Amino acid sequence: PKVPARPGNVAVAWNALREEASACTRCPLYRDATQTVFGEGPLDARLVLVGEQPGDQEDLAGRPFVGPAGQLLDRALEEARIDRASVYVTNAVKHFKYEQRGKRRIHQTPETPEIQACRWWLDQELDRIRPRILVALGATAARAMLGKAVTISRTRGAPIPLDNGVEGWVTVHPSFLLRVPDEARKAAERARFVEELRNIGERVS
Ligand code: URA
Repeated sequence: PKVPARPGNVAVAWNALREEASACTRCPLYRDATQTVFGEGPLDARLVLVGEQPGDQEDLAGRPFVGPAGQLLDRALEEARIDRASVYVTNAVKHFKYEQRGKRRIHQTPETPEIQACRWWLDQELDRIRPRILVALGATAARAMLGKAVTISRTRGAPIPLDNGVEGWVTVHPSFLLRVPDEARKAAERARFVEELRNIGERVS
């Protein structure tokens, strides 16, 4: 018989899911990463943000978006009047993929098999949270969300209907904003990102 849905059950099931994810071997990335970095945020969030994969700091902390890109994201959300605590934040790939160069661990972009293997976890998260809006930050997240490669510049700015009535959006990754070399262009790109987040925030409030 089906167990009636009670808040306690939701939390128990969620913890079991996280536990299972912490032992994930669906792709080889678990071998070199410190730990699985699962998503974080309220399970009734109306807005889910998907990044690429944990970076160096996230891998060590076990939490998504806590390093430089996360700090930029925090500030952008604040400016967009979105409370990060109300948002579920996760990544398309849940283990850090890197190349060791001396003491440094250099980020490597995950490839299709890794994104596909990890899509299972994203589906688990989305099935439970059932957000109104899903935002892909950057090309890897967009690929995970849409199941195909897309160009950010051609895909951003308009809602994309997804399964279960979820509204998808694609925008840039905060790390891209950190890397724009020209200061004026960086400011313009950042302002555009904040504007997109603000519009999205209005759609979920
Ligand atoms: N970049 C991401 O895509 N995700 C993180 O969690 C951190 C940096």
